[in-house]
Amino acid sequence: MFELKNFSVSVENGQIIKGIDLTIKDGETHVIMGPNGAGKSTLASSLLGHPNFITHGKILLDNEDISLLETDARARKGMFLIFQYPEEIEGITVSNVIRKASSAIGTKNLDLDKLVEQHKKLESDATALGLGKEFIKRELNVGFSGGEKKRMEMLQAMALNPKFMIIDEIDSGLDVDGLRIISSTIEQMKDGKRNFLIITHYPRILKHLKVDYVHILVDGKIVKTGSSALAEEIEEKGYAPYSKSDDE
Ligand SMILES: Nc1ncnc2c1ncn2[C@@H]1O[C@H](COP(=O)(O)OP(=O)(O)O)[C@@H](O)[C@H]1O
Ligand SMILES: [Mg+2]
Repeated sequence: MFELKNFSVSVENGQIIKGIDLTIKDGETHVIMGPNGAGKSTLASSLLGHPNFITHGKILLDNEDISLLETDARARKGMFLIFQYPEEIEGITVSNVIRKASSAIGTKNLDLDKLVEQHKKLESDATALGLGKEFIKRELNVGFSGGEKKRMEMLQAMALNPKFMIIDEIDSGLDVDGLRIISSTIEQMKDGKRNFLIITHYPRILKHLKVDYVHILVDGKIVKTGSSALAEEIEEKGYAPYSKSDDE
């Protein structure tokens, strides 16, 4: 189970996330929707301990407060963030990144047979995601298109098998086929225990996903929680009914 208790995030010139309470039970998928600048990516990065942000309040993972842990320790506890803007990292190949990450989060040193097995899975996952298997030999994200970067984020998630996945705007930069593949991969990764926090600006990805709760984030606060019907309401009316007036 994942919980936020009065969680807030600040930078030098002010508060971005302003006291959020959230409970995600095992196996649940929650969605955070909000307009540009609402604080969605700030929330996502700060849950993984991004050093740009000062946080207050509690982040509980199975009742343990992880809010003071370093990013790598949070990852070892099973947290994984799919970035809105994945970085290009020269000099290290995809297969190396995944091998290093999986040994760093505690997968035991694999014998040769297991390594071969892991590599085969990587190739078949890459193919299923619509990336050719040659992508595994490339430098991470270097020269990838926007949609390829998003598929690559998903490939890493599939390899690392996290307990709690935070997915920040995976739909941006993805074409319709990509969106369908990524959504069905998310559905396949649901195992009754894994938690998902899906962050999105546009409701369209929710047409392909089964979700338990939708939260509307405006100006750093959750202003409404509901079912997936709430996403349809946003599609129709936008965020205006929840936004501050211009002269505020
Ligand atoms: N490191 C930072 N320093 C100062 N302001 C920041 C920083 N990161 C984000 N912000 C500001 O916080 C607000 C929320 O940004 P962000 O979380 O990226 O929004 P969203 O993902 O919802 O579009 C924006 O006004 C942004 O400029
Ligand atoms: Mg964002």
